Amino acid sequence: MISCVLFVIFSFINTLYAQQSLSLNGKWELRDSKSTYKNLIGNVPGGIYSDLMSNKVLGDIFSGYMDDTTKWVPRQEWIYTKNFTVTEELLNFENINLMFDGLDTFADVYLNGERIGQSRNMFVQYTFDIAHKLKVGENILKVHFKSPVKVSEDLAEKQSQSYVIPPVCPPNEYHGECSVNMIRKMQASYAWDWGPSFPSVGIWKAVYIEAFNCSVIRHVVKDVVEDDKNDVWILNVDVYLAPSKTTIASGKIEFSIKLNNEAITKVVDVPENSIVVSAVIEVPKGSVHHWWPNGYGAHDLYLLKVRYSAENEREVSIKEVRVGFRIVELVQDPVGNGYSFYFKVNDVPIFMKGSNEIPVDILPERGQDKKKIRTLLETARDTHMNMLRVWGGGVYESDYFYDLADEMGILIWQDFMFACALYPSNNDFLENVLDEVDYQVKRLSGYTSIALFAGNNENEGALRDDWYHVRQNFTVFKNDYVKLYVDTIKNRFEEITHKRRIFVASSPSNGKKTEQEGYVSNNPYDQQYGDVHYYNYVLNPLNANILPIPRFASEYGLQSLPALETWLTATSNYSDLFINSEFVTHRQHHPLGNGEILAMINREFHLPHATDQRYVESVIYFSQLIQALATKVQTEYYRLHRSVIHQDGRGNTMGALYWQLNDVWVAPTWSGIDFTGKWKILQYNAQGFFAPLIITGFINIQNQLQVYVVSDLLVNTFSLTASIKVFNWSDLTPAVERNVSVNMDAGSSKLIMSAGIHDLLGNAKCGSGTTATQNCFFHLSLYKSGAQVAPDNSVIPTNIRNCNLQNPNLKINSVKKINVNGTFSIELTTDNVALFVWLDSGKILGRFSENGFLQVVKKFTLFFYSQIETSQDELSKELTITSVVHYSQLFNH
Ligand SMILES: *[C@@H]1O[C@H](CO)[C@@H](O)[C@H](O)[C@H]1NC(C)=O
Ligand SMILES: *[C@@H]1O[C@H](CO)[C@@H](O)[C@H](O)[C@H]1NC(C)=O
Ligand SMILES: *[C@@H]1O[C@H](CO)[C@@H](O)[C@H](O)[C@H]1NC(C)=O
Ligand SMILES: *[C@@H]1O[C@H](CO)[C@@H](O)[C@H](O)[C@H]1NC(C)=O
Ligand SMILES: *[C@@H]1O[C@H](CO)[C@@H](O)[C@H](O)[C@H]1NC(C)=O
Ligand SMILES: *[C@@H]1O[C@H](CO)[C@@H](O)[C@H](O)[C@H]1NC(C)=O
Ligand SMILES: *[C@@H]1O[C@H](CO)[C@@H](O)[C@H](O)[C@H]1NC(C)=O
Repeated sequence: MISCVLFVIFSFINTLYAQQSLSLNGKWELRDSKSTYKNLIGNVPGGIYSDLMSNKVLGDIFSGYMDDTTKWVPRQEWIYTKNFTVTEELLNFENINLMFDGLDTFADVYLNGERIGQSRNMFVQYTFDIAHKLKVGENILKVHFKSPVKVSEDLAEKQSQSYVIPPVCPPNEYHGECSVNMIRKMQASYAWDWGPSFPSVGIWKAVYIEAFNCSVIRHVVKDVVEDDKNDVWILNVDVYLAPSKTTIASGKIEFSIKLNNEAITKVVDVPENSIVVSAVIEVPKGSVHHWWPNGYGAHDLYLLKVRYSAENEREVSIKEVRVGFRIVELVQDPVGNGYSFYFKVNDVPIFMKGSNEIPVDILPERGQDKKKIRTLLETARDTHMNMLRVWGGGVYESDYFYDLADEMGILIWQDFMFACALYPSNNDFLENVLDEVDYQVKRLSGYTSIALFAGNNENEGALRDDWYHVRQNFTVFKNDYVKLYVDTIKNRFEEITHKRRIFVASSPSNGKKTEQEGYVSNNPYDQQYGDVHYYNYVLNPLNANILPIPRFASEYGLQSLPALETWLTATSNYSDLFINSEFVTHRQHHPLGNGEILAMINREFHLPHATDQRYVESVIYFSQLIQALATKVQTEYYRLHRSVIHQDGRGNTMGALYWQLNDVWVAPTWSGIDFTGKWKILQYNAQGFFAPLIITGFINIQNQLQVYVVSDLLVNTFSLTASIKVFNWSDLTPAVERNVSVNMDAGSSKLIMSAGIHDLLGNAKCGSGTTATQNCFFHLSLYKSGAQVAPDNSVIPTNIRNCNLQNPNLKINSVKKINVNGTFSIELTTDNVALFVWLDSGKILGRFSENGFLQVVKKFTLFFYSQIETSQDELSKELTITSVVHYSQLFNH
């Protein structure tokens, strides 16, 4: 019998450290294998680009052409070394493990000169047994990283001896590296259409030694289900214990969960040599509150403490996790000519509003930054989002990310990290993937916020639509596909989660229909099944009639340019900022992207000539405006189809996640938030188009204005007044006002008015025919008991460039500090309709309560929330106000 006293206890939430910690984080010695660069300080956790910047070997890699000029970095082999001392006490333990929570990616690990292990997957936690390799006193740990770029090339070369698995290289525009599909690493680190190539290398998560005689708790995997008959929640918990070299001694695990007014405790015996210990805990429904997504109620979480003890309390290991009581279902019932595809949370059908999250940072170590993560999730919360998709070309995000999602009620659509490629299915690769699935599913599936896991991003579509020209060998690649996503990932996922969590093989896919069709469906983009990704760079993006009507829109979006201030963090040369400059072209990875941006702008606006000093800023403003307006049109079109089903069977749309939330560098991209955290017009508009109650409209192909009200509220709403106004562009008094009274069922959309546009526009102030569509526009508001209950909205009946816009006398009338926290009120005045008013706070970081809006009132007050210490005077000096006419060729400013 061994005597079990735990030395170090680690846990994944509310980490509880014992008396002595054997963390090996901190300063390491860094050099390359040829010692061209040596005696550098390496930070752990960290990564090579961060280290080379902090050692001043590299300047700011986010500026200029550094993605190109640093291409030598991932071609070297980098060696991180640490000396550390160990006491005799530690060596007394039976089990001594060296733990790496993340190695990026191909490392040989040496302890005192002896190779003790290797890594090949940045998404796996590595455990190396070092019990008989440590010595009392000084020890040397060395982590020798191979070049990921060379390893992937070698693997591709080897693979090609049987057959080539495309894509081999990304498009030239990416300035990227090749064959990232051969390796298990953040796929976007070799470049993407929105991001640079920085193939990271390093110890990107914690490293530590753990020592014990019996065992420690590795994972607590849990989920909740309802037992309505007995009015209880069933909390299922699987506790995974670390294997021990000798026997895992018998002992017990005590589960205790704190409820609203009481605590429940349950003790389960651990028989000798158990690796998984399960418990079923019944929680009376009345003792807890439900966990609800953002916008639907509170997000209560309850602390579950899991305490393993063996050998009469001589060894104790504790982990604490939080439990949210909620049921998430994916409903796929017959509707139209297909199946529905929507989420029900706690029995309530919920329209998913949100965005796609790309990695928090292109350098994985910087993606752990808590401030950055918090800002992203708060932005999602503050713009009425209830779901984010963690996209499959990035990383499984940090625990902190999912902790905050749990706390803020942001549901997560979690992809497995496979994107836009075909992948190998040889045994080596599948074993590697299995380790990843095993670790990540155990780490993540317990998070309350994670609603669904998806096998990959767009790979089913890529195969079916033959993106990589492999049609002749379709069967080969289809078999690979099924082996990887179904036989390997799905099977392991279901084993760990006992089939109690939701899995789809791909996004987009046809959900249940895809399964019925053998996992590569005939048309993965079918609008009557599953989810759809949709991009259009050719047709007018403000015309709703061209849009798909899917069950669930999980990707759609348009590009825009980041703010001037943001560009100036990447270059100090103003000439670089012209859209067709070599610099912007270098950073535009989407083939033909800049031309598409200009075409979209020119369809709606009069850009000043390139020699006009407003040109650079005009392109920025107009690109952001088109992106925002098009995303708004599209999102609202999806939302208004919540309760609408057309004769062809399309409709019942229940999700709108636009592409993309964030940025990883300064470039033309699809993001709503730029690289410095500044909100583009899109992000401000999201506050409106994702509001719980909206009034929206579009002009259909019969030239009728269709006005809808959409309610995501949990209760029916009676006696609303929808006000449909017609304004002349040169008059703040409406030409026409029509009121419609509306009652809305909880969670529904409804057509409340349909009228020929010329019937509405035909009046003295607008004139008639085409002239009327140029003189006037529609303005929509929603009231209850005289108070506004939805954001104002507008429908412009022709291209904006054809509108008879007037040049308003638009001014900032006053700026007042209203409290100590840096909130300022700003009063705007105008003497005429002001189209898409845009305020900029220049160097003063902060956010406005509203921005990028249509002003039809003489005086309007909004707020600025400063993120830095500033005064009324400073803010007044920095503030600028502009609108469409300020940037138009037709008006001089
Ligand atoms: C662990 O077990 C060994 C015997 O294998 C024993 O010598 C040692 O004291 C134990 N460690 C502790 C801290 O109890
Ligand atoms: C680590 O130990 C080795 C061998 O004793 C020694 O050569 C080296 O200088 C030490 N490194 C540091 C940073 O102390
Ligand atoms: C694919 O098809 C081509 C032409 O028939 C053949 O030469 C090649 O070997 C095939 N590759 C695979 C993976 O089967
Ligand atoms: C600034 O950029 C322009 C165009 O990109 C280039 O022609 C010029 O040489 C640059 N000037 C400096 C000082 O780098
Ligand atoms: C409506 O707009 C047109 C064009 O701007 C203008 O000429 C006309 O006077 C306006 N009519 C009224 C009544 O404001
Ligand atoms: C329409 O309703 C709004 C809000 O209740 C009210 O202020 C306005 O006077 C009404 N207009 C007409 C024309 O009835
Ligand atoms: C300032 O912010 C703190 C914390 O958010 C809040 O408690 C306090 O009420 C705020 N003060 C004012 C004057 O708004």
